[in-house]
Amino acid sequence: MARLEGRVAIVTGGARGIGFGVAQRFASEGATVVIVDLQEGDAIEAAGRLPTDAPHLGIGADVGDSASATAAVERTVQELGHLDILMNNAGITRDNLLHKMSDADWAAVISVHLTGAFLMSRAAQTHFVTQRSGRILNVSSTSALGNRGQANYSAAKMGIQGLTRTLALELGKFGVTVNAVAPGFIVSDMTAATAERLHMSFQDFQAAVASQNAVGRVGQPEDIAAAAAFLVSDEASFITGQTLYVDGGQTLG
Ligand SMILES: NC(=O)c1ccc[n+]([C@@H]2O[C@H](COP(=O)([O-])OP(=O)(O)OC[C@H]3O[C@@H](n4cnc5c(N)ncnc54)[C@H](O)[C@@H]3O)[C@@H](O)[C@H]2O)c1
Repeated sequence: MARLEGRVAIVTGGARGIGFGVAQRFASEGATVVIVDLQEGDAIEAAGRLPTDAPHLGIGADVGDSASATAAVERTVQELGHLDILMNNAGITRDNLLHKMSDADWAAVISVHLTGAFLMSRAAQTHFVTQRSGRILNVSSTSALGNRGQANYSAAKMGIQGLTRTLALELGKFGVTVNAVAPGFIVSDMTAATAERLHMSFQDFQAAVASQNAVGRVGQPEDIAAAAAFLVSDEASFITGQTLYVDGGQTLG
């Protein structure tokens, strides 16, 4: 299916993990993809591995920095002519219990996830409003509902759900929808690092997580990519302000 034919899509944090899985899916559905990641070399290399011959781009930017985020959007429009889809996926973790969480760990996580989604969305909406169409898809998490050791991350991820609802209200009349996906456990460098921090093998960690959700397996980037491709497609034009939990039933209780 080529539901994204002719669209230009930015995926932040797209050089690996969930973001790269989404970038691959968007490309295979016809989009030209712009991978925005911290190191321009990584972004370019990942863009080169996308499955189609479209003129995919790799741009180095820190989404939490206002000038850098704006420049990434402006360069996209300058080089590719327009922007249709923004996926705010870039993320980091700096986990610790509250009494051990430093100011820097709090600020870094809020900056990348929450400020990053705000800055990229603000830069993109200028173009979306002018062309009277656009899609913003944010990445929240099941941790938004609360997770021990993740006060910073949980606050940022629930903040993203509020941002999503508010931007949906503001931008709907301009043909722009704004939604979020909230992944459960997805196999990536981020969850591998969590396993290491918990002194567990990644395999044991995955087995433990799989035993605790309804479908009995962990998620893969492709699971998020499938939901994302739908939410940014024309088929989803009546869906806005929503957060879709893609978690194998982890949050069902
Ligand atoms: N893996 C999971 O289980 C899981 C679950 C829920 C939510 N998420 C969210 O999904 C998103 C992707 O996670 P992942 O597991 O693929 O992580 P990952 O660590 O594999 O990839 C994150 C990417 O974001 C990039 N990045 C970090 N800071 C950035 C910045 N300031 N500017 C631009 N790029 C930056 C990194 O370089 C990296 O390429 C994150 O928002 C994460 O919080 C992940």
